[in-house]
Amino acid sequence: MPPERIGILTGGGDCPGLNAVIRAAVRRSMIEKIPMLGIKNGWSGLVTGEVEPLTRYSVLGILHRGGTILGTSRLNPTLNEDHIALVKGNWHKFGLDSLIVVGGEGTLRAGLSLWRDYGFPIVGVPKTIDNDISGTDYTFGFDTAVSIVTEAIDRLHTTAESHHRVMVIEVMGRHTGWIAGYAGMAGGADIILVPEKPFRISEVCSILRQRRSMGRLFSIVVVAEDAHPHPEEDFLTPDERSDVYHRERLGGIGNVLAREIEKGTGIETRVTVLGYVQRGGSPTAFDRILASRLGVKAVEMILHGEFGQMAALQGTKIVSVPLEEATRELKRLDLEFLRTAEVFFG
Ligand code: F6P
Repeated sequence: MPPERIGILTGGGDCPGLNAVIRAAVRRSMIEKIPMLGIKNGWSGLVTGEVEPLTRYSVLGILHRGGTILGTSRLNPTLNEDHIALVKGNWHKFGLDSLIVVGGEGTLRAGLSLWRDYGFPIVGVPKTIDNDISGTDYTFGFDTAVSIVTEAIDRLHTTAESHHRVMVIEVMGRHTGWIAGYAGMAGGADIILVPEKPFRISEVCSILRQRRSMGRLFSIVVVAEDAHPHPEEDFLTPDERSDVYHRERLGGIGNVLAREIEKGTGIETRVTVLGYVQRGGSPTAFDRILASRLGVKAVEMILHGEFGQMAALQGTKIVSVPLEEATRELKRLDLEFLRTAEVFFG
């Protein structure tokens, strides 16, 4: 029997391309004449019962718009039995018979649990600027973030060069170094520091001093928000450590790193923390296309009864992979990629 009403929600941190997925899913389900219901603010909308019907009209003109017309939140209903009961109640009240969950690791994991442990027919679509979801080669949002960071590095180059400074650029990525690695390489960074490889401050300073002795009077250092110093050369005070690697919100490594660089090299150093600008604004063409293909695939997976699965990009193909596999572990930046990036250090 074809589905009677498909729900869709966007959860976790927003990222460019979410609206393209919503539009694609609505357009594909319209072909089958299946009504779609938008759940507001991630899982929170299913707990509180906030929804809105999605029509061709409501998804007009949103392909290129950043953010999500549905809103988002980081609420995880599986952590609270009362929330699960509310989700069940609202699911029946709104006549849902399947749900597309567009999210990062946390949102998809909640989707997996609601499917596996409670029997909700759910399919996933991976999103995050961090590109850290397994089972898919890229997540939409990542290409846009890399473009934004690359442009920022280009701009910071000219000011660093004029003032003969070291410029430290702190970027997002949570526990992985995808954004730092890709944007760092695209922007011609002189050093890239990522969580996948703890760094030695003595080596960082030595590369920077050597560059200066060769007449290169400025340098660009890209640091991922969760990059750690090697334990043998740890320079963070206990307070700084708990600030920088705060479980809920990472950030701050750029400032302490800049202090240590100045101390170790004597070169004037400045910091730019790019922050939320990395996930704001319009998606790139690549992300619009990827998000549109994933949105269409998610509806087709529902039509074929492929629940507990996630739409994914593998090579050039959009495929369906088990949510279990996709959420088992974070996809980390390839060390092979890092070795290539290191060719351009200094
Ligand atoms: O996961 C996307 C992301 O932007 C990370 O890169 C960053 O660490 C985190 O979200 C910030 O989260 P919040 O929006 O909760 O501050």
